[in-house]
Amino acid sequence: MEKNRKGIILAGGIGSRLHPLTQVISKQLLPVFDKPMIYYPLSTLMLAGIKQIAIVSTPQDLPKFKKLLRTGKQWGLKLSYIEQKKPNGIAEAFILAKNFIKDSPSCLILGDNIYHGNNLSNILKEADEDRENSTVFTYQVKDPERFGVLNLDKKGNPVKIVEKPKSPKSNLAITGLYFFPKDVVFRTKNLKPSKRGELEITDLNQSYLTDKKLRVKALNRGFTWMDTGTFDSLLEASNFISLVQNRQNTIVACPEEIAYGNKWINKSDVKRVAKLMQSAYGQYLKNFIR
Ligand code: G1P
Repeated sequence: MEKNRKGIILAGGIGSRLHPLTQVISKQLLPVFDKPMIYYPLSTLMLAGIKQIAIVSTPQDLPKFKKLLRTGKQWGLKLSYIEQKKPNGIAEAFILAKNFIKDSPSCLILGDNIYHGNNLSNILKEADEDRENSTVFTYQVKDPERFGVLNLDKKGNPVKIVEKPKSPKSNLAITGLYFFPKDVVFRTKNLKPSKRGELEITDLNQSYLTDKKLRVKALNRGFTWMDTGTFDSLLEASNFISLVQNRQNTIVACPEEIAYGNKWINKSDVKRVAKLMQSAYGQYLKNFIR
């Protein structure tokens, strides 16, 4: 039988670009409108059908994530918590999580990345089904120099991924969601730290690309991808979520709703969570199981 894919949410870092906001609280616990930021990447993994998820964060922040998300049982999940003592790079998450991943395929999502769009669940499930190749997602942006950028040849085939290039050769950012086959730990161990002393996710992706094992899926213009690492993008994300939710009377990234939809929990499980929340969020939970 095929192994289930394991999920990893990287929620580390000191959030220096958001000081003083992040001086005493982790960036991924800040609100994005009505819920903590980490609910969004968590929901994305749940939409991919992933139930075993490890949260990787700093020793000082990890207890707060545990307090918020607990064992995950309330959502039918099995959550693990792994310390990243120093910010040694995104790819280090695979080395820290090697006993969690074992020989399963994995999916890493950055704790400040928000995905919203029609058919998201199917797009993710399709990536999950490919057990031989890795999958990354691109998104057209105005400011590619802030991201990992995908260079294409004249025929539109991917040729190279460059991390934060000064003069980007395309406007396609590689977003913070990566599906990898089971050899990811092995490959990460063979990476050399970059000039800034980090194990770079871009170098890991490049190794798959070089071996013709990288699939690139473009998220088109009907889709919204945001990273929330700056003051402006944080506010924009809150405004966006508020607008979508209020217009349609839905909640984006509601783990209870996704877990219920996946049949991982039942009505009384939702009721139990709803009872603890006197907010509009709690009311929403009560309404959808009515
Ligand atoms: C990281 C990655 C970058 C990617 C981005 C997506 O950058 O290094 O390749 O495009 O996340 O959010 P960071 O946001 O850590 O600077």
